Amino acid sequence: MKLSVVGCGYVGLVSGACLASLGNEVVCVDIDKRKIALLKKGKMPIYEPGLGDLVRENVRRRRLFFTSDLKRAVRKSDVIFIAVGTPPRPNGGADLSFVENVARTIAEEMNSFKIIVEKSTVPVETGEWIQKTVERYAKKGAKFEVASNPEFLREGTAVKDFMHPDRVILGVESKKAEEALRQIYRPLKVPIVATDIRSAEIIKHASNSFLAMKISFINAISNLCDAAKADVGQVALGVGLDRRIGPAFLNAGIGFGGFCFPKDLAAFIHLSEKLGYDFELLRAVEKINQNQKAVFLKKIDQAIWNVGSKTIGVLGLSFKPDTDDMRFAPSIEIIEALQAQGARVRAFDPHAMPKAGEIFKNVVFCKDSYSACRGSDCLVILTEWDEFKKLDLKKVKKLLNQPVIVDGRNIYRPEEVRALGFRYFSMGRS
Ligand code: UDX
Repeated sequence: MKLSVVGCGYVGLVSGACLASLGNEVVCVDIDKRKIALLKKGKMPIYEPGLGDLVRENVRRRRLFFTSDLKRAVRKSDVIFIAVGTPPRPNGGADLSFVENVARTIAEEMNSFKIIVEKSTVPVETGEWIQKTVERYAKKGAKFEVASNPEFLREGTAVKDFMHPDRVILGVESKKAEEALRQIYRPLKVPIVATDIRSAEIIKHASNSFLAMKISFINAISNLCDAAKADVGQVALGVGLDRRIGPAFLNAGIGFGGFCFPKDLAAFIHLSEKLGYDFELLRAVEKINQNQKAVFLKKIDQAIWNVGSKTIGVLGLSFKPDTDDMRFAPSIEIIEALQAQGARVRAFDPHAMPKAGEIFKNVVFCKDSYSACRGSDCLVILTEWDEFKKLDLKKVKKLLNQPVIVDGRNIYRPEEVRALGFRYFSMGRS
C-alpha cells in the first residue's frame, strides 16, 4: 500500500520508518525543508535509539522517501497519516491549525479514494472537523474517509513501542477503512481494537491521563512516606504486585514532564470542561505533579541550607532518560528556581546539553558527571540515566565540597550511599 505520513516529529518519523519496515511504500512529509534535507542525508533531527538505522535501511530498500511537497505526496498515496504538531494554547486547549491546513491541502489535491488518518493526539471531534474541512475544499464527487489511529509510542523506546504495541486502536466509520488499516497493522500480530472515531480519540486521552494519574498517585504516597518515615519503593512494590494495579508507572520522583503528559492532560481537562464535565480528579493530578518540584527544592534547601551561596552539581536535564527532549522537563523549573535564589549550577546530561544550552542561561555545562561534581556543595539528580547509576561514588565524594546527594529519581539505595559517608536525600524514602 502507498502511504504518506505528514509531519516528521517523534510520532511521524518513527511511524513512517516503522510502517516502511512493515513492507509499505511510505513518503514522509514535512514543511521544514532543513529537516527533510537532513533526513535525505540519512541524519536524524532527533535522538531516538535505533531510529537512524531503521530510516537508512528503509531508504536503501527504496520503501521510505522524504519530501516537503505535500501536494505530490497526497496524489501518490492511498492512506495519509496526519502526524503534525498539536501544541498547547495558553488556555490548555490544543492548537489544531496545522491539522486543519494539512486537511485542506489533502482535500484540494485528492485525485482518487483516500483514507485520511489522524495520528496526532487530538481532542474528540477533531475527526469530524477534518471530515468537514475536507468536504469543504474537495472537488465535487471526491471520495475519501477519515479515521483515527492514535499512537502510544514513548520517546526513548519509540521504535520498539511502535513495533510491539500492547494494542492498535482504529477509529473508523466503515468496514472499508477498517480493513485497509487492519491490513497495514496485521504483521504486528497484536490485538486490534476497532471503534468509532470519537471513542478512539478518547482512548488516547484516557490512557495518557490514567498513566499521569498513576505517577501523581505514587508521588502523593511518596510525600506521605516522607512524613511517616516509610519507603515508597517498598510500598510501590507491594501495591504493584496486585495484578489489578500493576507495577509500571509507580516510580516516585520529581513528577512527569515531556511534550505529551502535561499537554495532553491540560487538553483533556479543557475538553471535559467544554463538554460540561469538571474533571476534578485530573486537576488534582496536575496539582500534585506541579507540587513535586517544590517538594524537591525544599529537600535541597534542607540538605545544604542557604542555597543562594552554593554551587549545585546537576546530573540529568532531559525529561526522562534515553532522549534529548527538553520540552516541559522538570529540570527547567528546578534549575531556574535554584538560580533565582542565587545558586551557581554545573550540569551534565549525556544527550540533552545541546538543547538545554538554548534554554538555560549561566549554567556551566560539564564534559561528564564527575566534572559536574567538582567543587559542588551538593549533587542533585534530575534524570535517571543509566550511567548515573554506575558512577564511582567514592570518586564523587572526593570531588564534591560536601558529601551531599539529593536524588529526585531514587536511583541509589539509601543504606549503600549512606555507608559511603554521604548525606543522602531522596523521594519518599527517609
Ligand atoms: C508518554 C506515553 O507513555 C505515551 O504512551 C504517549 O504516546 C506519549 O506520552 P513519553 O512522554 O515519551 O510517553 O514518556 P513516558 O515514558 O511515558 O514518561 C513520561 C513522564 O513520566 C517522564 O517525565 C517520566 O520521568 C515520568 N514518569 C514515568 C515518572 O515520573 N514515574 C513513572 O513511574 C513513570
